[in-house]
Amino acid sequence: MKPLGLNEIREKFLAFFESKEHMRLNSFPLVPINDKSLLLINSGMAPLKPYFTGDEIPPRVRIASCQKCIRTPDIENVGKTARHGTFFEMLGNFSFGDYFKKEAISWAWEFCTEVMEMPEDKIFISVYLEDDETYDIWHKEMGIPKERLVRLGKEDNFWEHGLGPCGPCSELYYDRGVEYGCDSPTCGVGCDCDRYVEFWNLVFTQFNKDEAGNYNPLPKPNIDTGMGLERLAVIMQGVDTIFEIDTVGHVLNYICKKAGVTYGENPDDDVSIRVVTDHIRSVTFMIADGVMPGNEGRGYVLRRLLRRAVRHGKLLGIKDLFLYDVAKEAIRVSEGAYPELREKQDFIQKLIHIEEEHFKDTLDQGMALLNIEIDKVLAMEETVFPGGGAFKLYDTYGFPFDLTKEIIEERGLTIIENEFEKEMQAQRERAREDRRNSDLAVWADDPFNPLGAEAVNTFVGYDNLVAEGTILGLYVNDALVQEAKAGDAVLVLLDQTSFYAESGGQTGDHGIIQKGNGLIEINDCKKGSLGRHIHSGIVKSGSFEVGETVMGEVDKDLRNAVQRNHTSTHLMHKALKQVLGDHVEQAGSFVSPDRLRFDFNHYQGMTREEKRRVEDIVNAAVLEAYDVSIFETNIDKAKSLGATALFGEKYGEIVRVVKVGDFSTELCGGCHITNSAKIGLFKILSEGGVAAGVRRIEAATGFNALHIVEKMDDTLVDVSNLMKTSPEQLLEKVNELTEAGKQKERTIAELKQKFAGDMIVDIQQKMMIIDGIQVTIAEIENMPMDELRNVSDLLKDRMGSGVVLLGSVHDGKVNFIATATKDVVKRGFHAGKLVKEVATIAGGGGGGRPDMAQAGGKYPEKLAESLKKGESCIREQLS
Ligand code: ALA
Repeated sequence: MKPLGLNEIREKFLAFFESKEHMRLNSFPLVPINDKSLLLINSGMAPLKPYFTGDEIPPRVRIASCQKCIRTPDIENVGKTARHGTFFEMLGNFSFGDYFKKEAISWAWEFCTEVMEMPEDKIFISVYLEDDETYDIWHKEMGIPKERLVRLGKEDNFWEHGLGPCGPCSELYYDRGVEYGCDSPTCGVGCDCDRYVEFWNLVFTQFNKDEAGNYNPLPKPNIDTGMGLERLAVIMQGVDTIFEIDTVGHVLNYICKKAGVTYGENPDDDVSIRVVTDHIRSVTFMIADGVMPGNEGRGYVLRRLLRRAVRHGKLLGIKDLFLYDVAKEAIRVSEGAYPELREKQDFIQKLIHIEEEHFKDTLDQGMALLNIEIDKVLAMEETVFPGGGAFKLYDTYGFPFDLTKEIIEERGLTIIENEFEKEMQAQRERAREDRRNSDLAVWADDPFNPLGAEAVNTFVGYDNLVAEGTILGLYVNDALVQEAKAGDAVLVLLDQTSFYAESGGQTGDHGIIQKGNGLIEINDCKKGSLGRHIHSGIVKSGSFEVGETVMGEVDKDLRNAVQRNHTSTHLMHKALKQVLGDHVEQAGSFVSPDRLRFDFNHYQGMTREEKRRVEDIVNAAVLEAYDVSIFETNIDKAKSLGATALFGEKYGEIVRVVKVGDFSTELCGGCHITNSAKIGLFKILSEGGVAAGVRRIEAATGFNALHIVEKMDDTLVDVSNLMKTSPEQLLEKVNELTEAGKQKERTIAELKQKFAGDMIVDIQQKMMIIDGIQVTIAEIENMPMDELRNVSDLLKDRMGSGVVLLGSVHDGKVNFIATATKDVVKRGFHAGKLVKEVATIAGGGGGGRPDMAQAGGKYPEKLAESLKKGESCIREQLS
């Protein structure tokens, strides 16, 4: 048996099945397509499910693939044992109603013995208890002796996942020799020890399990096989675990080098090394396939893996950010088979870097807090850690629950998961409540509810700004009324309207409702229950009665402005995807006549250049003068047109599609201009973060954009005039001035220094000797307290031994400071007592330590008298 590299094995497998007329398929992404039952692809057959169930026709009846897989149920064991991993590749050959057991078995045997050249007597086979057919094929046709064939029960040899296709299976094991065995007399295939490694599962998908639990034979049975590529590599390379095979081993070694540790020397380090090795591979592949860190679903799996890896890196003593760098090695060893890794390398590394940096900051604080809490529980000789504490760590420091749990368990405590869940639930409720409260787009309590379900209106405002309608209801002063008169603030319900009611982020229309000489000024329109458009306004003249026919007219300028902004958000959404990447998803939007606001998922602030590019792309689309076409169709058709649907938004069967040329296609219920040229000009006003991973752009269009540019221009000219230069030379001028300013500051600092020096010399001349001690008492002109303190320190230092008392008037107040060297203090001198007495004269107070004290007074004119008093106090204290 020749040792083969992992990449070689993969190629040999796929080529072998190609020679058996299989179509080679690339791995599907880890994110399941149209399959809500799975978070991440976990087997070779998972993405092929529709072919097994007959929902879709496979491109060929024989397929072979190598599929990226992630399994996380064992995540806590990853690292602790050398057998578990979250990421692996699964080799598989599949038959959709074509060949069955006989071919599947004989090709598996041929591949193992002839292509991999495994010694025949090392291969053991398990067969499902009741599956005589398979037993006979192995025994009679393939000539496998009974000693190497075992029958196992449903637990081991029947493959099913919920409902749907399932069937008995047959597994191939490799005997690694007695040295790997457990010495138990019953040790054999199926034993938990490391001797018999299960490496290939042949599933004979011949039943369809229905809701009632019946196993109905499929008209055409299928074959689904799965072989762990890394496990096969373990066998072929004669190493002990997947962590030592060529590819994974490179990653492991890289981590060891970074951490300055050796694998196999310290069991604790080994756990951490394995955790980081495994997790970085999962993380790298997940990000390449579009998963973003988050608090739910796949995003949470990613975040959990990343954070677990950060912590174990720390346990290994790695100080700097390192995961983003290790990712490079994980990419290097797999990019041959998965070119997407190389293509997205920058993005992958950047995202890991950000997430790592973010978590690292809080890891220390969180760990400190957690350790304190754990110590408290231990000190009370309790064994259960409160779930609320774990929630706080999650909420404040982003500690995934599982990480907290793991750390707690390492310290010998347990935690009640329920309590954590309860807190989580409560938080979700609060968030939902907040959303409800902020949802002003809808009348929480529709005042027209008493009119019943017939009182609804037709909206005709996509195409008409003017429409006739009959008044169905009027609401004034918190009551339904028959008549509204001039001066009334009124809510109006019509049977037909062209006023758009606020929804999908677009604000409601303004306008007028009129009849003869009666006029209502409408300044908002919102949705009530049953989708009613409710107009709110003020009756300006005349009176209005229920049942009357009126004309509603939407303010055209405002509507046009809104439409320009709304179409621009679609263009910008597209442009953001082009500039920042396909991960950009709309997370919210607000479109009013004067500006638009667009929230989207992105992991870092945009550079000035990125913003420029987005502006340029949008403005280019404006200049292209794309026609905007709007039509209704069914959701499947819309998707096949490539329409962008909002993430998490529910759409009905019939959807409205807004298409701007071929540039942008989105599902949308809002109002749009008829041609992109009508936007005129698009300008980004600001970009910033609103939540973790969510950015917000504000922008303006049309005249609003122009006015903003004009205002910037005015400012530029005003500033240039002030600086006595032209806008073109402004930057240079400002740089010059800043430089000159700095130079001046330097000069001032030098002068101050010199001045202080001179002053100290002056003051020193005023020194006197009292009872053998040098005493300096001085009045200094206009000096704030902090500078006064500096001067007194300088004086004290120069004296070596003595007392300093300074006073100065500054800002209409008197400041005093007194200091004394240690030897003087030892003689019983107290600076605090001194300044207290001195300040009293000047109408103030203060105090401090024996060696340093400061005080203030209210009467500047008393400064001289105070210092005189100081002198006598010092004499008293020293005598
Ligand atoms: N689908 C089978 C497995 O995952 C081959 O084991």
